[in-house]
Amino acid sequence: MPKNLNLTDNLEKYIIDHSEDLTNVQREIINYNNNLGDQKKLQISISQAQFLQTLIKFSHIKKILEIGSFTGFSALSMALALPNDGILVSLDKNDEFSKLAKKFYEKANEKKIKQMIKPALESLKEIKSTGDNFDLIFIDADKENYKKYYDLSVELVNTGGLIIIDNVLWNGDVADKKKDDKFTNIIREFNKYVKNDNRTKKTILPLGDGFTICERQ
Ligand SMILES: C[S@@+](CC[C@H](N)C(=O)[O-])C[C@H]1O[C@@H](n2cnc3c(N)ncnc32)[C@H](O)[C@@H]1O
Repeated sequence: MPKNLNLTDNLEKYIIDHSEDLTNVQREIINYNNNLGDQKKLQISISQAQFLQTLIKFSHIKKILEIGSFTGFSALSMALALPNDGILVSLDKNDEFSKLAKKFYEKANEKKIKQMIKPALESLKEIKSTGDNFDLIFIDADKENYKKYYDLSVELVNTGGLIIIDNVLWNGDVADKKKDDKFTNIIREFNKYVKNDNRTKKTILPLGDGFTICERQ
């Protein structure tokens, strides 16, 4: 048996076909994103969304903060896994994406999502000033600010809560010595910083483009 599977498109389709069905609106968002060309890559994968949903349900998570909403696939997927009295605050600076996401949330009749539309560092400062805390913080926005988002998340997440960060394997390039571009190096530095931070315990999962799961100590 191989240590790791070669995740071909065929195998990925098989996994999706044999996992829980998506809702109509989740499917609609994916179809919309698929027509955006290169931008479709911004969305998390179906397996990542389903993993987040399982985690939310099993950990009885009630309050989520998302940094980077795009057209709303990850936010809607997570909100669907929340209990009725749950809440998800989703941050994005892009008006156009946020309007589209709102339309999808309304179509799904999903009322647990609150959007904050401005640069995430401004929203995070505002949230911090209210003394609000979260059970799960999902980081999936501009990579240049990942370290700042992580440090603020460590302050905003409850003890025992989770911080999950996407794109930490950067298409596998982080482990390729020949790669020396700006973004690969930003993610490498970020991963090193998180690894050496004793405020969290962490593991990296090779799901989608790589998820780091951090548990706040
Ligand atoms: C990778 S996409 C998020 C994908 C989303 N989580 C999903 O799975 O569909 C990153 C998003 O971060 C937003 N973004 C980039 N820089 C930002 C900033 N400084 N403040 C807030 N949002 C930002 C972009 O507008 C984009 O929608």
